[in-house]
Amino acid sequence: MLTLGIETSCDETGVALYDSERGLLAHALYSQVAMHQEYGGVVPELASRDHIRRLVPLVRRVLAEADITMSKLDMIAYTEGPGLAGALLVGASFAVSLAFSLGIPAIGVHHLEGHLLAPLLDENPPAFPFVALLVSGGHTQLMRVNGVGAYDLLGETLDDAAGEAFDKTAQLLGLGYPGGPAVAKCAERGAARFKLPRPMLNSTDLDFSFSGLKTAVLALVRQRELTDRDRADIAWEFQEAATDVLCTKCVAALGATGLNRLVVAGGVGANRRLRQKLDQAVRDRATVHYPRPIFCTDNGAMIALAGALRAGSAERSPTRFVIRPRWDLTSLAPAGI
Ligand code: KG4
Ligand code: ZN
Repeated sequence: MLTLGIETSCDETGVALYDSERGLLAHALYSQVAMHQEYGGVVPELASRDHIRRLVPLVRRVLAEADITMSKLDMIAYTEGPGLAGALLVGASFAVSLAFSLGIPAIGVHHLEGHLLAPLLDENPPAFPFVALLVSGGHTQLMRVNGVGAYDLLGETLDDAAGEAFDKTAQLLGLGYPGGPAVAKCAERGAARFKLPRPMLNSTDLDFSFSGLKTAVLALVRQRELTDRDRADIAWEFQEAATDVLCTKCVAALGATGLNRLVVAGGVGANRRLRQKLDQAVRDRATVHYPRPIFCTDNGAMIALAGALRAGSAERSPTRFVIRPRWDLTSLAPAGI
């Protein structure tokens, strides 16, 4: 079964072709980063308009790359939520209209389910059940993943998401947007000089909190005229603090569930220091699966894959769609039900 995946939940237009037998055939991504950079963050209306501009060329490109004509498509999967309402509307209306015109089913996919299942795109995918750390710009959650759609929430952030803390820190240090890669790059030149808190590091639960860390960065920044050395050292310490907490909670989640497979999903999962610490911390007791960096951040491949795994609930020639800007992952039904 050949599925076209469409991702438009935020500032990346992702399109991919996934074949249930042969795997991923082609994928293409257009990042709006340059356009939003001058505003220091995503401008929702600009994001929606740009998705409109990019979708048709990207769909043409993946079809050409895979040497497949539109008439061969069996299904279209699109991101139904969570995300920016206008951006979601563009992808959903495009996908449903195209599916209707081709007389094929369309299916709305939960964006975070896409992130959770992205490691299944690998050659050696992890078997269920596994523990998943979902760390993106909007979410920080630890899940027990029992199967497609069978997710138990183990812990989550009580305030800011980890990616949000990276983005805010980058803003405070004047490093631009998107913050995660900018902080990581700046930290390469930094060293241990400042001390930032590791919120909830020793709490007995699996929850997180990142707003205090962000405020502590703000306090450091306010105390001085920032030099390049200060920026690098603050970025270094921030990255150490955030990854210490993420890593410690992952180890605790493996202990609490008794599982020995950990999947790291979402944009912050691309962070190299986090990967280094996790690999070291779980070395003897578990294996860690990371999606390829391009499939950690938003992309169409994870949406095509998640749609294909949920093909049973796709509606043939749909004429309606919903979008869900806010959508709880644990409210999903297991696939096939
Ligand atoms: O999953 P994603 O692409 O979009 C959301 O669904 O949110 O995640 C984006 C988040 C942003 O906050 C970005 O700053 C962060 O992931 N990020 C990183 C890195 N690459 C992206 N954070 C830390 N280190 C990175 N290398
Ligand atoms: Zn995402």
